[in-house]
Parts: sequence; C-alpha cells; structure tokens
Amino acid sequence: MLCLITGATGEIGSKVVENLLARGQRPRIFVRDFEKARSLFGERVDVFAGNLADPAALRRAMEEVDSLFLLNSGPEIPARDEIAAIAAKHAGVKHLVKLSSLDVQHGLAIGTWHEHGEAAIRALDVPFTFLRPSGFMSNLLAWAQSIKSEGIVRSSTGDGRRAFIHSGDIAAVAAEVLLSRGHVGESLFLTGPEALSFAEVTAKISTVIGKPLIFQPISDEEARKQYAATGAPSAETEAHVALWRAIREGRLAMVTDTVETILRRPPVALEQWIAENASTFVGIAEAGQSETTPRELVSG
Ligand SMILES: NC(=O)c1ccc[n+]([C@@H]2O[C@H](COP(=O)([O-])OP(=O)(O)OC[C@H]3O[C@@H](n4cnc5c(N)ncnc54)[C@H](OP(=O)(O)O)[C@@H]3O)[C@@H](O)[C@H]2O)c1
Repeated sequence: MLCLITGATGEIGSKVVENLLARGQRPRIFVRDFEKARSLFGERVDVFAGNLADPAALRRAMEEVDSLFLLNSGPEIPARDEIAAIAAKHAGVKHLVKLSSLDVQHGLAIGTWHEHGEAAIRALDVPFTFLRPSGFMSNLLAWAQSIKSEGIVRSSTGDGRRAFIHSGDIAAVAAEVLLSRGHVGESLFLTGPEALSFAEVTAKISTVIGKPLIFQPISDEEARKQYAATGAPSAETEAHVALWRAIREGRLAMVTDTVETILRRPPVALEQWIAENASTFVGIAEAGQSETTPRELVSG
C-alpha cells in the first residue's frame, strides 16, 4: 500500500504522515519545500518536490500510488482539486481522500470552495472519501496574543456553538481511511466531542491556565475591522465574518460520533488540547509583537 500525502508540512498533513509512519508505512509526500520536509521527517519518507498547481509534477508523484491524501487551501481549491483528480485518474490511484470541510453545505465561501472541489472529483469518477471536519482546535491559537496581553477574547460568534476537533483526530481518521481503503463514496462529518460557545471555550482556557479571562462579544463590523487589520484581502475577511455569523446563528453546531466509530475511541476533549498548548496562552505578550490575530490560523 503506497500512500501519497499532500500538505505534508502543514497542520493536518504532517500528522497524517506521522500516523502512517507509526503504522509501519513509508509514505510518499508531495511538498513545495524539500528541506522543510526533510527537517520534519528525516529519511523516513520519500519526498517529491512540486506545486499543487503543476499537473506534471503531480502525475510524476502519483505513479504507483494506491491512495492519495489531498489537501488544498484557499480560493484555488476547486481548480487544484480538479488538477489532482485528473492526475489521480491518469495514474490509476485507487482512492482519493480529500480534506474538505463541515461547512461545505452552508453556502459559506470556504465551504463553497470545497463543495466545488468535491464536485470536480466526483465528476472525474475517482473513488473518493471526503473528510468534512468542524473547526480545528488549533484555530484557537489565534487568541493567544489578546489572552496574553489583555486577558480578553473578542468574537462575533455570540452564543453560537462549534464542536472544535483536535487535528490529531482528523489525521488518525485520514490514516485509517487511507490504509483500510474504506468509506469509498462517503462524506464523513468529523467533530470534537461537544459543541461549545466561544465563551465556554474561553472559560475552559481560563481554568487550565489559571488566569481570569473575559469573553467580549463584538459586532460583525468590529470583527470585520479586527480581521482586516491583519492585512487580509476583503474577500477573505468577508468569508470569515460570514462564517462567524453562521456560528452565531447556530448553523454549524453539529456533533457527530464518526470519529469514535472509526477510531473506536472518543474524540479528544478540548481540555486536553488546551493542556497540550497551555504555554502558548501564558506569559506577557512581548513588546513589538503583533496584537492582531494571525489570520492564517483563524477559521472558527
Ligand atoms: N482550520 C479549520 O478550522 C478548518 C476546518 C475545516 C477544514 N479546513 C481545511 O483544512 C485545510 C487546511 O489544512 P491545514 O490547517 O493542515 O493547512 P496548513 O497547516 O495551512 O498547511 C497547508 C499545507 O499545504 C501546503 N501547500 C500550500 N500550497 C501549496 C501548493 N501550491 N503546492 C504544494 N503544497 C502546498 C503547505 O506547504 P508549505 O509548508 O510549503 O506552505 C502546507 O503543507 C483547508 O482545506 C481548510 O479549508 C480547515
């Protein structure tokens, strides 16, 4: 069984690689940065350098591959997913496992990019599984600066809930699906164990780090200004404001038992993720550090 992992230097892809290694596999990875890949995984993987926009490089990387883990980001998702699916079909890949999003059916921008990517893959008739996770717990790292410097979390999500999921759970499900070649033709909605309001998440961080924190609800307009201050293009800013509004309206609060069904253990609780990352939320923000949210981490 030969698996090709894209996005292998990122949050989820790197953990998919580690899962496969722990299960005795030697995965092939497709990365832009060869040195970064070697520093992460040493000689334990076969590295193919290339860009997800380059069909020829993808086709080379997919030769003899049985299963592909496909991770694309941003507005290019539909076009890049199609490029990868064409390469997979050409190479005779038997299973394409795409990291999609739980937001795929809610008419939200990022969800729509994934919806179109999924449609391109279906249209090419490559055997697929779509992993549709909820918001990653790792998004909460974006709160670190305001927690450290002010003890405040500001959000336009109101009382809306989200069942944040640990990246390790998404990666473990991906590895299981890749290796079993199961769940073909299925879309798997993956969530953490409980849907929490952002005020409840703030309270849990407060408990673990032992520091009083305030949750401050803000308007869409304030959220827009806060996000735009990171230098984000307006389409990206609007995508996030709409996502937070959808959370506030209770449209993204789904909780599923899919992680537990596939992994035969409950999904990791938020308290564990906070404990693993507690050092990020403690201490004083250093002078000169940006007080705005690192935008690549924000997704809700
Ligand atoms: N955050 C959330 O709450 C959430 C929820 C649901 C779904 N999602 C989806 O999850 C995905 C993001 O996953 P992640 O957090 O693991 O991403 P990430 O940490 O940002 O990593 C992205 C990976 O893709 C690689 N990459 C980017 N552009 C590339 C290109 N043109 N060619 C080759 N490789 C490229 C990056 O390589 P470099 O190291 O070279 O940059 C990196 O390895 C997105 O599809 C997002 O919509 C996110």
